[in-house]
Amino acid sequence: MIGRLNHVAIAVKDIKKASELYRSKLGAEVSEQVPQPAHGVVTVFITLPNTKIELLEPLGEKSPIQAFVDRNPDGGIHHICYEVDDILVARDKLKSEGARVLGDGNPKIGAHGKPVLFLHPKDFCGTLVELEQA
Ligand code: CO
Repeated sequence: MIGRLNHVAIAVKDIKKASELYRSKLGAEVSEQVPQPAHGVVTVFITLPNTKIELLEPLGEKSPIQAFVDRNPDGGIHHICYEVDDILVARDKLKSEGARVLGDGNPKIGAHGKPVLFLHPKDFCGTLVELEQA
């Protein structure tokens, strides 16, 4: 059911510092910072030949990643994102098999302008999984 690995997301306290690390030390192609107030994060995308890295920094007082960054002051892998052909078909199949979809269970428009949803980490090997409609 799942397709390509769309991205691995790393949450950090200082996205400017993290961007610079990827740009200068690792020699990667790093995007500008994009504030996403609706999601409570600032994002930077790093384009690799086979996938992307999404850097996330908390934005605003109710950022959904603030607690994670507080627990992981050096930063940490926050989620991985797999592509699916049809997000509603994928959701309904997973729900019928007992997987928990976070939030109200409906896809939201993610950082790439495509529908996404998140699956409970306890149901997927301790990893927060994002599904994005390809
Ligand atoms: Co993501």
